[in-house]
Parts: sequence; C-alpha cells; structure tokens
Amino acid sequence: MESYDGKIKGKSFLITGGSGFLGSWLSERIEALGGTVTILDNLSSGSRDNSKHLKAKFIQADVCETKTLPGKLDYIIHAASIASPDYYQKKPIETIWANTKGLHNMLEIAKQKKVKGFLFTSTSEVYGNPPDKFVPTPETYYGNVNSYGPRSCYDEGKRCGEAYCYTFFQAFGTPVRLARIFNTYGPRLRAKEGSSYGRVIPRFVNQARANEDITVFGNGKQTRSFCYVDDQVDGLLRLLLLDGLDGQVVNIGNDDEKTIIELAKTIKNAVSSSSEVAFGPLPKDDPIRRCPDLRKAKKLLGFKPRIKLKEGLKETIGWMT
Ligand SMILES: NC(=O)c1ccc[n+]([C@@H]2O[C@H](COP(=O)([O-])OP(=O)(O)OC[C@H]3O[C@@H](n4cnc5c(N)ncnc54)[C@H](O)[C@@H]3O)[C@@H](O)[C@H]2O)c1
Repeated sequence: MESYDGKIKGKSFLITGGSGFLGSWLSERIEALGGTVTILDNLSSGSRDNSKHLKAKFIQADVCETKTLPGKLDYIIHAASIASPDYYQKKPIETIWANTKGLHNMLEIAKQKKVKGFLFTSTSEVYGNPPDKFVPTPETYYGNVNSYGPRSCYDEGKRCGEAYCYTFFQAFGTPVRLARIFNTYGPRLRAKEGSSYGRVIPRFVNQARANEDITVFGNGKQTRSFCYVDDQVDGLLRLLLLDGLDGQVVNIGNDDEKTIIELAKTIKNAVSSSSEVAFGPLPKDDPIRRCPDLRKAKKLLGFKPRIKLKEGLKETIGWMT
C-alpha cells in the first residue's frame, strides 16, 4: 500500500479546530513530516496549550465568520466542532453552525484556493442507533437518527455537513474526503473536572483516581469501540492524502467492541482504584451499540488500528497524571 509520508513535505495545511484534541495531533504529525500548518480555532472547547509547542501559525477566529484566508493552501482539514455531548447540548447553535455554515465557508475557501484535498471529520453519530444486523456498521448503512432531539444539533449537523461536501464534490469537483470517526481517545482529551458527563474515558479515569463512584449510564451493556489517537491520525491522513479517494466516505476507528461496564472495570484496575460502579439513567437517544465495519478502510487505505485498549489507556492515564 502506498504511503502518505512523502506527500506532506513542503505542503501547506489549514486545520480548523487545530487546538483541540484531534486537530493538535494531526498538526503535530504533519509538522513532523515537513508540512506547514495554519490553525484556525476559536478556542471554544480547545486549548492553546494543545498547540503552542507547534510551529503552526495560529489564528483565533470562528469558522462561521471566516470567509477568506491569505496565502497558498494545499489541503484543508475541517475538524472545528464542539464534540462532547454535554457541551454541544449547551451550545447547540454553535455546534450545528460549525458543521454547516462554518463548513460551507471552508468549502468555499477550498474552491478559491483549488486545494488538492479537503477532509471533513464526520462521525459515527450519523448512524444513530443501528439495529444489531448493522453492527459492525458499514458506510452503506443510512442511519437511524432522531432529527428532533437533544443530540440532533450534532448528529444532524454532521449529516447536513456530509450533504454539503457531497454537493461541492458534485457541483464543483471539490476534492472532499469524509471520515466517519468512531470514539477516539488519548492524551489531550479532556473531561470537565467535577462533571459526570463528557467524554467517557477521561471522566472514568478522573472518577477512578479520586476513588469516587464511576458513573455508568443505563445498565452499562451499551457498547463503544475505542480508537487510540495515533491510529486515528494515521487513518485520517491516509484518507486525506492517498491518491484516487476524492468523494469517498470511510469509517475510521477500532473494531474492538466493549461494553461500558467492561471499560469501567478496565479503568478501575488500571488505576488500582477502590471506586464502585454507580448506575444512572441512560440519556435520551444514547446509541446502544457502536462498532465500525473497517473493511472499506482496510481495502482503500490499508488502515488497521494497532494500539490495544490497555496500551492506549496506559498512555492516556500517564498524561492525565
Ligand atoms: N474525538 C472523537 O472521538 C470524535 C469522534 C467523532 C468525530 N469527531 C470530530 O472530530 C473533530 C475534532 O474533535 P475533537 O475530539 O478533537 O474535539 P475538540 O473539542 O477537542 O476539538 C474541536 C476544536 O474545534 C474548535 N472549534 C469549535 N467550534 C469552532 C468554531 N466555530 N470555529 C473555530 N473553532 C472551533 C474548538 O475550540 C476545539 O479546539 C470534531 O469535528 C468532532 O466532531 C471526534
């Protein structure tokens, strides 16, 4: 399989949301391979600390207000969006806009600059609540999503974003590539201190380290499949940079499906905690199963996640300590 390493040197990348979790790791990998990065971020959920060690030019601005940018651009990665359920439910307008209005602005810039590739960070949430026969979930599954509920600003925002990308690809030949990202974790993924919501891995780690109850929603039998950030970055860059993939939609994640109870126990053991597991109500529209079908990622990208959950958790907990 072709490698992307040689395609980065001397090329200029715009990364929206580059001071967030995934955007900062993408920026770091691109710089390490000789690319130049401009980060456009309004710091609504990200932190300058995530990216200030980079050479990247930093522009503090909202993607929804940015219509033009100076200079040459070879590639755009649109990763700007509030991404954690507790936060996007507090900021639903900002969330839907980053994935529609803000995405539209970035697609227009891609058109002006005639970029070689445009990556949209879509999500497994476009699948909503798939029945068991569609788990692991392939890209051909159309989704079972509530368009009128507390998660719809994110889930339907991303679905509409996918439609924008498709439209630009059809109408203008914009070289869009869509990643449906499944739960990704690693250093720099933050949980709000004291909150019982937010990203599940840092939340469980904080609770286990404080020997507090680990709060599991529902009966804990719902599943997620966790991808370590190094693997995710590798998959995203393969999708953006390998030849012949314009217009493609590809799942990127890890297909090692775990119940939330298993995750709670694994984290409790990893930090030698005396926490108990406490059960709370399942939030509305919380998906029951999440596991990507990775056959397309393997075939088109040669992508295979390599980092096991225990290994990735060790790195993540080490960073959080
Ligand atoms: N991490 C995951 O598991 C996951 C899963 C599926 C999809 N995604 C998608 O990947 C992308 C990155 O997610 P993340 O986990 O790094 O989240 P994050 O919150 O760490 O990063 C998002 C960044 O976007 C910035 N941002 C938000 N709205 C903006 C706006 N209007 N203008 C400019 N900047 C803005 C934030 O300040 C932040 O730095 C998001 O689009 C998210 O929906 C992530």
